[in-house]
Amino acid sequence: MQTEYLAKSLLEITDKIAAHGIAIIDQFLPAPTVDALAEEISQLAQLNALKAAGTGRENVAINANLRGDHIYWLDEQSGSPAQQVYFNAMEALRLELNRQLYLGLFGLESHLVLYPPGMAYQKHIDRFKGENAGKPLRQISAILYLNSQWQASNGGHLRLYLQEESLGAAPYLDILPTGGKAVFFLSDTFYHEVLPANQDRLSLTGWFLTR
Ligand code: OGA
Ligand code: MN
Repeated sequence: MQTEYLAKSLLEITDKIAAHGIAIIDQFLPAPTVDALAEEISQLAQLNALKAAGTGRENVAINANLRGDHIYWLDEQSGSPAQQVYFNAMEALRLELNRQLYLGLFGLESHLVLYPPGMAYQKHIDRFKGENAGKPLRQISAILYLNSQWQASNGGHLRLYLQEESLGAAPYLDILPTGGKAVFFLSDTFYHEVLPANQDRLSLTGWFLTR
């Protein structure tokens, strides 16, 4: 039954990406998996294993004003059981996206993320158009939220701008980072930012790669 449910949401994601370049799914993974991933972040934080995230391509600058999250890169080969559920779902999605949209996605890079209260990520894009081909490029951004009890009053919205910056004052979507929800969008198309929250904001962010 779970597999059937997943297959349905994979089709929905693929259709929405094809139509709009954005897909938002409320229950991408089962609640126990979401809770287990959140617990992993808490444990990594206690072990001091989360690292301040960088920005920029070659020189990784740590700038908490621009980006205040802490991350832990995942390795598909040595993932926990909850991470395996995630990787299996993402692999099924990768195959579906390739089958229907011919995106040539060949891999996934992903990390667990914690934004402490008050921390944000200023408006940015995950890949610049025309960025050097031949090396792996981020094609689809995929963010899975992990806070099961999140309320609008907690803040921490993902603000997703719907038009390119050059078009002026762009309309945007404010997406509440509720546990289990997943957001997918074309990495070279949509500017976005993370608004500050009043509690630890947890997520698992991944990017499907192309060449
Ligand atoms: C990112 C990012 C958005 C979010 O990590 O590049 O934009 O909602 N994350 O966590
Ligand atoms: Mn981003």
